[in-house]
Formats: sequence, structure tokens, C-alpha cells
Amino acid sequence: MTDPVKVLVTGAAGQIAYSLLYSVAKGDVFGKDTPITLVLLDIPPMAGVLDGVVMEMQDCALPLLKEVIATTEEAVAFDKIDAALLVGAMPRKEGMERKDLLAANVKIFKSQGMALDKYAKKTVKVVVVGNPANTNALICSKFAPSIPPENFSCLTRLDQNRAQAQIAARAGVACSAVKNVVIWGNHSSTQYPDVNHATVEINGKTLSVFDAIKDDSWLKNEFIATVQQRGAAVIKARKLSSAMSAAKAICDHMRDWWAGTPKGQWVSMGVVSDGSYGIEKGLVYSFPVEIGSNHSYKIVQGLPINDFSREKMDNTMKELIQERDMALEACN
Ligand code: NAI
Repeated sequence: MTDPVKVLVTGAAGQIAYSLLYSVAKGDVFGKDTPITLVLLDIPPMAGVLDGVVMEMQDCALPLLKEVIATTEEAVAFDKIDAALLVGAMPRKEGMERKDLLAANVKIFKSQGMALDKYAKKTVKVVVVGNPANTNALICSKFAPSIPPENFSCLTRLDQNRAQAQIAARAGVACSAVKNVVIWGNHSSTQYPDVNHATVEINGKTLSVFDAIKDDSWLKNEFIATVQQRGAAVIKARKLSSAMSAAKAICDHMRDWWAGTPKGQWVSMGVVSDGSYGIEKGLVYSFPVEIGSNHSYKIVQGLPINDFSREKMDNTMKELIQERDMALEACN
């Protein structure tokens, strides 16, 4: 057996973590033969709940789980970690705008960026889930200058999974038959779920999504709106934000980052823009990426962008520029 991978989950007493920890600890993310040391961070008022979570983790009797460290101190939580799943934040409640959340959450991610810089391995891979996820990831990276910016990402895989599932349902196929759906931009209602490069396999034949679904109006309107508004729809129905599906998406994101993507397939991740597709450098923007076997990704290049897509990609970039400016101000 290899050395344990040391994985930090923040917001460990919260609802996403409750669905996430079991999957991570049983080997769904870092491999079925890789032992795990789990570090659980939450804030001091949640210390009692965290104790309960630790008891349950023990009671799962999982062979790969070597150790569980529960803490409310960043110095302990970030020490020599290999991976950080930064879930902890103030969650969006019904009717609450993302902008209201920004100021409160930026401070958390500034502090955690500084802790990563000081205590984590320089190879640490970070996925920010807490909203506003893209901008929190940007702030986190900014305050961790000794860690390469490409080691920071934010979760837009839930949006990708939602888009893939909508297309699969409409085409009457399994989700696995739908490939290369792209989420561009912000994990917010301005995100652009793009199926122009995606395919659907039906009866052994690979078709473009437009040929498979044969309803351009649905694809350009209802489909996009459904994916953009899905988070809000779940909150309205459940009175709580997505948790089970978010946890599944976090596992998908980190598993692919760790193990790589199959040839010819890409996944969407919020990553630091290098200027690809005319997106302002330095923003954390969701792009399609291909991931190699050494945990390093490349933004997929050369996809043709039509006018419809261009407008939507620029629109979500504008929102991210505004968020970045507000966040930088809130950091001072
Ligand atoms: P929750 O409220 O159930 O749990 C959040 C936990 O974070 C709480 O236990 C809280 O005490 C803890 N926390 C707060 N500040 C912290 C800090 N400084 N350090 C460590 N822990 C801290 O919320 P839930 O449902 O688990 O959601 C977590 C976040 O994920 C929210 O910001 C939510 O909006 C976001 N989210 C993002 C998605 C994405 O696709 N990017 C999807 C779904 C949710």
C-alpha cells in the first residue's frame, strides 16, 4: 500500500460534508488502494457536531481510513495536506443574492489561503466549493503565493453533471452516453452550459447534441435556463442547498484531477484563466480541461465559438470581474 493521502475537508460539520466524507474515505476519489488521512475543520461552535461526525466515520469501519483528525484550528487543519476540499462557508439561503454572501465569505478564504501558504504541501490540490466559489478560489490563490496558481480550482462539476443529466433525459439515454458538455464561467446563474461541442451516443452512433435532440429552441432557451437555475430550484424545494449532488460532483472533480480524464473527453473546472478564449487573465473561470496522469490539466484549445456562445461567455466573465473587484475591496 502507498502512503496515505492527507485530505482536508472544511465545513466538515455541514450538510455537504455529511454526504462527502464517506465517499472520500472509502476510496471513491483517490483510488481503491490509497489509504486516507482525513482532516476535518469547522468553526468552534460546531466542535460538538464534529465529534459526532468523527464517531460515525469510525463506525463506518473503512479499511482505507487510517486516521481522522478533527480540529477548529487552521494551523492543524492545513498542516502538510495533499488535497483540500474547501466546502465550509456561509451557505446561500432562499432569496439571498450571491453578492450578499461575497463579503462574508471572502474573509474566510483569505485566511485559508494564508494557511495553505504557510502549512500545506506546495503540491496541494485545492477545490473551492463554498460560494461564491470562483471568486473565493481566486482570493485563496492570491493569499497563497508560494503555491502554483494552477493548483487552485473551483467546483463547476455539479453544473456539468446537471447539464449532462438534462441532455440525457431529453435524448432518452444514460448520462454516460453524453460527453463533452462544457460549463463556461461563473458557478452562478450567469454560467453558460454549452452543448455545441458535446455528443450523444444513441444505438451505437455518435451524434452532435443538436442532431440528437432536434429542438434548437429547447437547447438555446429552456435547457440553459434549467441548468442555470437548478441550484435555486433545489433550494426552493428542499429549503436547503444541494448537498448529495454537490458531494458527488466534488468527488468527480477531485477523482478526475487525481487520476486524469479519458482520451478525447474533457471536464469543466473553474481554473485560473491564462487568457484562453479571450477570458481575462487571472480570473477563476470555468473552462473545459483535459487532465493528464500527473495531476496536471490543460485548458482545451481551439473550440470554435459562435456569436451566441461568445455573448454568454463574455456576460459571465463580466460578472466575475465585478465579483473580483468587490472581493479585493473586501480583503483590504
Ligand atoms: P452548511 O451550512 O450545511 O455547512 C457549512 C459548514 O461550514 C458549517 O458547518 C459551518 O460551520 C462551516 N464553516 C463556516 N465557516 C467556516 C470556516 N471559516 N472554516 C471551516 N468551516 C466553516 O452548508 P453546505 O450546504 O454544506 O454548503 C457549503 C457551501 O457550499 C456553501 O457556500 C454553498 O453555497 C456551497 N455550495 C457550492 C456548490 C458548488 O457547486 N460550487 C454546490 C452546493 C453548495
